[in-house]
Amino acid sequence: MQKKIWAALAFTAFTCAAANAGITNFLPDFSPTSAVINAFDSAVAHRRADALVARMTIDEKLQFIHSEYAMANVPGGGGGYIQGVPRLGIPDLNMVDSSTGSGSTSQPSTTFPSTIGLAASWDRGLSSDYGKEVAIELRAQGFGMGLGGGVNLAREPRGGRLFEFLGEDPLLAGEMLAERSDGTQSQKVIATIKHYVGNEQEHNRSGGNSQIDERTLREIYLLPFEIAAKRAQPGSVMCSYNEVNSIYACENSHILNDVLKNDWHFEGQVQSDWGATHSTANAINAGLDEEEDVGSTVYLTPDLVKQAIANGSVSTARLDDMVRRKLYVMIRTGVMDHPAQPGGTIDFAAANAFAQSVEEQSMVLLKNDNNQLPLSAGSLSRVAVIGGHADAAVLTGGGSGNTRDPVTGNFAGCGGLTFGTSTGCGWWTNPWLKVSTPLVSAIHALAPSAQVSFAGNSDQSSPFAAYTQAQINQAVALARQSDVAIVVVAQPAGEDFGDLQSLSLANPSNQDALVEAVAAVNPRTIVVVESGNPVLMPWKDNVSAIVEAWYPGEGGGNAIANVLFGKVNPSGKLPVTFPVRDQDTPTWGTNGTFESNPVYAEKLDMGYRWYDANNITPMFEFGYGLSYTHFSYSGISVAHLPGGSLDVSFKVRNDGRVPGAEVPQVYLGVPYNGEPPRRLVGWNKVAMNPGESRQVHVTVTPRMQSVWDTSRNNWRYVSGSTVYVGASSRDIRLQAH
Ligand code: BGC
Repeated sequence: MQKKIWAALAFTAFTCAAANAGITNFLPDFSPTSAVINAFDSAVAHRRADALVARMTIDEKLQFIHSEYAMANVPGGGGGYIQGVPRLGIPDLNMVDSSTGSGSTSQPSTTFPSTIGLAASWDRGLSSDYGKEVAIELRAQGFGMGLGGGVNLAREPRGGRLFEFLGEDPLLAGEMLAERSDGTQSQKVIATIKHYVGNEQEHNRSGGNSQIDERTLREIYLLPFEIAAKRAQPGSVMCSYNEVNSIYACENSHILNDVLKNDWHFEGQVQSDWGATHSTANAINAGLDEEEDVGSTVYLTPDLVKQAIANGSVSTARLDDMVRRKLYVMIRTGVMDHPAQPGGTIDFAAANAFAQSVEEQSMVLLKNDNNQLPLSAGSLSRVAVIGGHADAAVLTGGGSGNTRDPVTGNFAGCGGLTFGTSTGCGWWTNPWLKVSTPLVSAIHALAPSAQVSFAGNSDQSSPFAAYTQAQINQAVALARQSDVAIVVVAQPAGEDFGDLQSLSLANPSNQDALVEAVAAVNPRTIVVVESGNPVLMPWKDNVSAIVEAWYPGEGGGNAIANVLFGKVNPSGKLPVTFPVRDQDTPTWGTNGTFESNPVYAEKLDMGYRWYDANNITPMFEFGYGLSYTHFSYSGISVAHLPGGSLDVSFKVRNDGRVPGAEVPQVYLGVPYNGEPPRRLVGWNKVAMNPGESRQVHVTVTPRMQSVWDTSRNNWRYVSGSTVYVGASSRDIRLQAH
């Protein structure tokens, strides 16, 4: 019902405005998709929140806008804690990181694949399930709020936190985030989306000034937040550490008040990243509703806010607004009436199975010469597995996106493995190896009659130290006498360690040399990459197959083995461009130095748009990914619907021999100054049996055909765009107007 009303309103508004010389004042937008939000519930929640605010004392209100504990002391190993008001039936609210699973520092949790992998699935339903499965664990641990919705874009391909975001395209990232947030809130756990906005690098992470012009902000960096905020209505938006155009994000009235709350009608709350608040009245008046406490400087304490009210710099109406927003979110999501209780039982086996299935749908087959893959167990007598700790562990990302092992309760990196002198077991410490899923045993289970042997680095003193010549010699000897050599390479990255210096695997270790040496003696060399970032592959032409597995989570070993042996047909597509060289990336500049105050000078030409606009051939482009079957595309037609939407329709056929899923992508070339050659405007993921074909329809809303018109400070509809349908951003199969 709610959805229909929105659609009708949007339609009427557009047709009136469309008569006005191609310019619209209001465009059909991103309407709510959530099953949990409807107009009635929302109105009831507002009324209840108003009534509660009216009954709260000033002290009760003040305790409601600031985390009660500094981070290190939050019960249950959470990240922040808002004290409730028992006399009014308002429960406490405990919140925790949840990028790839619960980040509780005291309770075991499942490690799901990194979300850049989730984005590579291009599967909206899977993203919703991901949000739901993570939330189930959060609730069982006593958390009513999950901080896992990271959606900064991969402008800086070397970014330390890329693994916990959703790639380089605003539409893909925004839609996947909306689904994830919806899944989380379906479990009565408040979803947070973060870090708002312009937080695309770790370098100078606590205060860099991201300089982004308004059009670029609106069309690129704000867009994923807008989509998720409107579609899923997450309870919270976390403002980021950095400045946006010289004003700290958490006291930036333009992005908080003007854009988020006024333009987008966001009814939830704005919370600060931990330590990202820099003032009291300024921040509050600019739109910050709640401060989280990292244990040092704090600005929204009861005393300081009381003072600000007393001296007139903050109004009581604004304090009520801050409190009301939080109450509204708690009521609407069900957290108020059904608060999460710690001590619940978690079905870790089921969660592990889900983690594995996500990984299976996230892996991207990048190269497969002469159909080397899938491997046939019956024809193999000796399998070499080399490198990457593949006999013992998989890699995960570090920082607040890390989780504790469900079996040992330890953080990745110290769950029973001994890495020489490495004693890092803490949240923020390197290394981040998850013990649960050794690839060697997973392969052995699928090829029981083969001899599966490992050569590599499990016993090194530091997990990512360079391979010794002796280790490389050992790997070469093993590869020489094996039918196939599977080389695992791994690129560690994480929060608060800075960004990668280079996308090269030669940094931090000589993994390129290892791959080259193995490939020189075994023509069937298959490389599996565990990374959260694109990696350079100087050996690409010398190996026969390459699989990108991202940080694969605790089901990773089994999932990778299943793809290698064809139990699963890979269907992932890259959510981020893999360049040939660092120098080709938009942020490298002359020598790869990170800007402390990044100027987003490439404007709209970020990610694949950069490569397309500058005619740079990437190694593997955005949207690219192979399958064990083959798909053909035919018969495009574009219907111009009343109201301005395009219905793009075409046929996709599985004309290979095995079942598989394809992700047909629709791009638009918008004829307007400054626009890149192509922008993604829609996609579908379709599973088909051999010989089966599907008629695919993708609706392109007027908004997706529009540009931000700075002279009018509004969206401008542009007619006459070219429609491209492709199997990737460069493998364009059909074209029309
Ligand atoms: C990170 C956030 C995280 C918070 C709480 C910050 O350092 O930037 O993503 O939610 O810590 O752990």
